[in-house]
Amino acid sequence: MPTSSAASQKRLAQLRTLIAYHQKKYHEEDAPEISDEAYDALVRELTQLEGAAGSPSKVAERVGGAASEAFSKVRHVVRQWSLDNVFSDEELEAWEERTRRFLEKAGVAAPSLAYVAEHKLDGLKLVIEYQGGVLVRAATRGDGEVGEDVTHTARTIATLPKKLKQPVSLICVGEVMMFKKDFEKLNRERAATEESLFANPRNAAAGSLRQLDPKVAAARSLSLYVYDLESFDPLGTNIKEPESQWQELALLRKLGLPTSPYPERCSDLSEVKEFYCRWCADHETLPFGLDGVVVKVDDLTLQTALGYTARAPRFGVAYKFPAVESTTVVEAIELQVGRTGVVTPVAHLRPVLIDGSTVARATLHNEDQIKRLDVRVGDTVILRKAGDIIPEVVSVLLPLRPEKTKPYRFPSTIAACGGDGRIERIPGEAAYRCVSLNSEVLRRERLYYAVSKGALNIDGIGPRIIDALLDQKLVSTLADLFALTKEDFLSLPGFKDKAAENAVAAIAAARTTTLPRLLIALSINHVGEETARLITTHFPTMEAVRSASEAALAAVNGVGPTIAASVVAWQKNKEAQRELRALLPYLQFPEGRVTASAKTTLAGTTFVFTGTLSSLSRDDAKELVRTRGGAVTASVSPKTSYVVVGSDPGTKAADAARLGVKVLSENEFLALVA
Ligand code: IVH
Repeated sequence: MPTSSAASQKRLAQLRTLIAYHQKKYHEEDAPEISDEAYDALVRELTQLEGAAGSPSKVAERVGGAASEAFSKVRHVVRQWSLDNVFSDEELEAWEERTRRFLEKAGVAAPSLAYVAEHKLDGLKLVIEYQGGVLVRAATRGDGEVGEDVTHTARTIATLPKKLKQPVSLICVGEVMMFKKDFEKLNRERAATEESLFANPRNAAAGSLRQLDPKVAAARSLSLYVYDLESFDPLGTNIKEPESQWQELALLRKLGLPTSPYPERCSDLSEVKEFYCRWCADHETLPFGLDGVVVKVDDLTLQTALGYTARAPRFGVAYKFPAVESTTVVEAIELQVGRTGVVTPVAHLRPVLIDGSTVARATLHNEDQIKRLDVRVGDTVILRKAGDIIPEVVSVLLPLRPEKTKPYRFPSTIAACGGDGRIERIPGEAAYRCVSLNSEVLRRERLYYAVSKGALNIDGIGPRIIDALLDQKLVSTLADLFALTKEDFLSLPGFKDKAAENAVAAIAAARTTTLPRLLIALSINHVGEETARLITTHFPTMEAVRSASEAALAAVNGVGPTIAASVVAWQKNKEAQRELRALLPYLQFPEGRVTASAKTTLAGTTFVFTGTLSSLSRDDAKELVRTRGGAVTASVSPKTSYVVVGSDPGTKAADAARLGVKVLSENEFLALVA
């Protein structure tokens, strides 16, 4: 047996205790404290450590929680299993490979494997028994062997028949859920009466089913989809016993039980992957929650041959959607200084795969956030990353904190500020910034940003050339850049004729710009792309922006007091204003491209773009919308006015169709903005 260090033995013990604790919270108390994904991450770490230590524990193998004393207990006729999880196509393929090998070894011929792909519904399992066609019992899963009798509350589920369409005896299994709209309604009602809110629809469903008083359950619309037939006796009827999962679903439906309309029969694994991909992209649009796809070998003879491991069936597996939460360890906390001088604490993490990419750093936002979380170097934390959101630390798992950690102390100077490195807290904000905004370090960062694509977009001039220009003392401000000549560039190391000409031409081209681009290039704290546009729509000249009052700025919808205060601080910053005065003579703003005098024909509308447009770039198309008062968002919602569809569109076109949002072709879009 391989030995392991005392440290990992201790970690093993801590993980086992913590996992057992969260199992209890989830299964027995319907009050989980961490997401399923963070829980899965803990179990993964435990499993890995156990592999290394060679001392498998039973913790991760436990199926669910003990039945509560409050309900009478039901010993399940058929043991209730859990499902193993896979998280990638590779893991799914490995599962199929294992399945094949197992069948081969068992001497069972299976030339091809067909599957049924279903939703992994995010509710709670219900084991339902009918005798002679009459509903006699419904029970929770409990620990897999003994569940709780919840027949009294299950009877309140409108779609659960008290009598089947045929007088057969059977045991079937399904998932009790609360649809999103019913969950929201329930929480609204609870908020109104100051009752505690349910964390998610799953807990609400579980809490409602596990009520002693059926009236409470009846008042909370519960839903049910049945997905498995565990035992079947046709009694006097001539109903044939199903031979496949697909036939099982058909039979359950025929008998009047509620089944999901979504399962598909897949003739091979590539069809399963296709089903997964589709629902991975679209599951948010469904009225109920799911956290993955369940894949089951269709043929019941093969299912029987495959049988079960200690924890789960071999014939099925859950292919989970990419986790947006996971757990990892904080290895260091560093302070990063942005071009506006704002100091952001960043956690350096043990790299972890989350939502399809490896994350090694996460923002801690500011000092208050570090204090609130009490995050320390060495801590195990829950990390979240969803879509385009920057990864962030959600909470610390205190039971896994090593000994002798110290609370993090924010320093008073930071080398990354440059100059004397002093930092100060920004009035009215939780953030710190460098006292001197004019240090060499920050000027450099601001110049990098000013020439970048989203700002003045000076083609071919990037950080490397800016560094060379600064090092040769050819520039120190943005205005200096516009005064550069071909000779200046030729004096830089490695610059030949052509390159120097190109650089000068690119700078000359950037002189014709727009007011929002200039505002972005100025690195005013909190003024990014969207804000710059909002401000210039209401203050359409640089003079207007420079003299706008704090109140007038704050009154702009989408601007607010923090941004207004930041713009006013910039107005009062003599150095910044001097630089701007030096810069303005180089720039021109062609009429009609920016200002509030432009048509506002699209005011109040929201656009989403998908696919490639043939006659203009995505950025130009967005600009057309924004200069006409419209807004552009990344994803389709019922509030979206139009989805503009180019060639090779993504899933957003389908989202539009589902949500009944108007779809525009490129030509229709051009006609609208003409
Ligand atoms: S099949 C032996 N199918 O997922 C077969 N389970 O981890 C075991 N679940 O507690 C279950 N949707 O409550 C199956 N379409 C589906 C499911 C499903 C959700 C839940 C089930 C179980 C857990 C398995």
